[in-house]
Amino acid sequence: MTRPPPTLDRFLLECEPDAAPATRELSQLLLRLGVAGKRIARELAVADIRHTRGSAGTENVQGEEQKKLDVRANDILVETFDYGGLVSFVASEEMEKPHVYREGAGGARYTLLFDPMDGSSNIDVDGTLGTIFSIRPRRDGTEADLLRPGTEQVAAGYVLFGPAVLFVYTSGHGTHVFSLDPAIGEFVLVRRNLEMPKKGRGYAVNEGRRAGWAEADRAFVEHLKEPDPSSGRPYSTRYSGSMVGDVHRILIEGGIYLYPADGSSGKPSGKIRLLYESHPLAFVVEQAGGRASTGRDRVLDLAPRRLHERIPFAIGSADEVDLYEGFVRGAPS
Ligand code: AHG
Ligand code: MN
Ligand code: MN
Repeated sequence: MTRPPPTLDRFLLECEPDAAPATRELSQLLLRLGVAGKRIARELAVADIRHTRGSAGTENVQGEEQKKLDVRANDILVETFDYGGLVSFVASEEMEKPHVYREGAGGARYTLLFDPMDGSSNIDVDGTLGTIFSIRPRRDGTEADLLRPGTEQVAAGYVLFGPAVLFVYTSGHGTHVFSLDPAIGEFVLVRRNLEMPKKGRGYAVNEGRRAGWAEADRAFVEHLKEPDPSSGRPYSTRYSGSMVGDVHRILIEGGIYLYPADGSSGKPSGKIRLLYESHPLAFVVEQAGGRASTGRDRVLDLAPRRLHERIPFAIGSADEVDLYEGFVRGAPS
């Protein structure tokens, strides 16, 4: 009898490297994130029918418009960890301050951060979206627990809402991809220990914002567009409006996603937030053989001063991120 590929549940129980209690709790936590992912996927699938698209009429702490589904996805995730004492508190792009759980506040081993809906502008057009998550050890149970380097993440990943719903995660032992089989409602393993290409042929950046970039960012993107068949140029542009969608493409095909500092639109550190966007994606991509950098520093080494801090962000294949760093350091190769 051929053995079917494992479900997320089975994979977490049988294939995670050790079966210590901490790992069992972590497995539960990841499984619950899968359930939340399924609930969010369902909300997206019926949004037009239920008239739950569009603006919520509110702004998040960063002054960005909140869509109804940003708020709904956030509520689902907060509620998902409201029992069982798995996490002491959660922090989110959509909440100014962490939400502390009464039950978990004292004894829980973990804290959780998320971007409930990444690529919100795609909500109203049925484009690709994602939920990003980052799991950290709980220390003293205050916000200071979070203001630490990304190397301290215990696990991280994302749920991708596209033609298929994917659950992608790492706990520091490779990056694994699961695809939701809607008939049975389970995530099924489709790629174990994913190895991304060392070099790609595509780049993802919002070139409409070029006017606000530094010279090195402009020069890098111009370089990618210059024809030179021997080095695989010109690269193709692939920008979806959802970083999760773009980074997932890069995990499979190689290439680079870039959100540089933007001096002209009030984003001197770019748009992408370190704790719940950059750190988790950097962990996933590094575990697949890629790199994530600000252009100067390895993203996982950085610790923010504030919960919602942003950084200039470049992530993708090792060759393209190396090349980008060369431009930022003023030494194009
Ligand atoms: P979010 O929807 O969580 O605010 O994140 C959107 C991010 C990222 O997913 C995307 O690549 C980028 O912002 C799009 O921003 P621009 O419209 O400035 O390109
Ligand atoms: Mn986002
Ligand atoms: Mn978001």
